[in-house]
Amino acid sequence: MSTEGRQLFIPVVCGSIRRNRRSLLPTALIVERIEALGHRSVLVDLRELALPMYDEEPESEAQPGVARLRELLAESDASVWQSPEYNHSFTSAVKNAVDFVDEELRRKPVAVCGLGGLSGGVRAVEQFKLVLIEMHALPIRDSVHFTEARTLFDAEGKLQRPEFLPRIDQMVMELAWYAQSLRWGRENVAVPQRRR
Ligand SMILES: Cc1cc2nc3c(=O)[nH]c(=O)nc-3n(C[C@H](O)[C@H](O)[C@H](O)COP(=O)(O)O)c2cc1C
Repeated sequence: MSTEGRQLFIPVVCGSIRRNRRSLLPTALIVERIEALGHRSVLVDLRELALPMYDEEPESEAQPGVARLRELLAESDASVWQSPEYNHSFTSAVKNAVDFVDEELRRKPVAVCGLGGLSGGVRAVEQFKLVLIEMHALPIRDSVHFTEARTLFDAEGKLQRPEFLPRIDQMVMELAWYAQSLRWGRENVAVPQRRR
């Protein structure tokens, strides 16, 4: 393992549910790099989870995808969220997913990655980080911006720009540092009482 301490569990959420989405390959690549660095990971595919729109109805809450999302994030030490940029923001699928969770992300670090054209989804990343702050999660500085999404992988799914690998690894190592530190904090440091 490249980081000290216990092995971490870091799920990676694919924030695009579009047919023929490009986000799946970079998301899978992040999972691969997390595992290569000695941690556990899983690709959380929001398309597969098929979450209903958040409406607090009992039948929505009972959907297996909702339980699966909550379970994976509750077990996690940190998470990575990969969102393409749609109309200068992150996807509605990502927003809908985070509305279903609460303490599962609380006081845990999150890395946000973007995908898009020239900008590599930078606006999606920055906007989602603001949402995470409100959720008492800790968005970290490091992100990977997957630019020029159309040409990033070839038809066989091979990464065409290997310079992304050290960027992903750097982000994962930063995330792991925060995850180790915050896990210790959650286990050892009293949380301040909130004034009503
Ligand atoms: C509804 C929609 C809005 C988009 N808006 C932007 C945008 O604001 N900025 C950008 O760089 N790309 C934008 N794009 C291009 C996407 O980033 C590109 O299609 C990318 O492949 C989307 O990720 P996905 O294939 O995983 O869904 C948009 C695409 C869609 C479908």
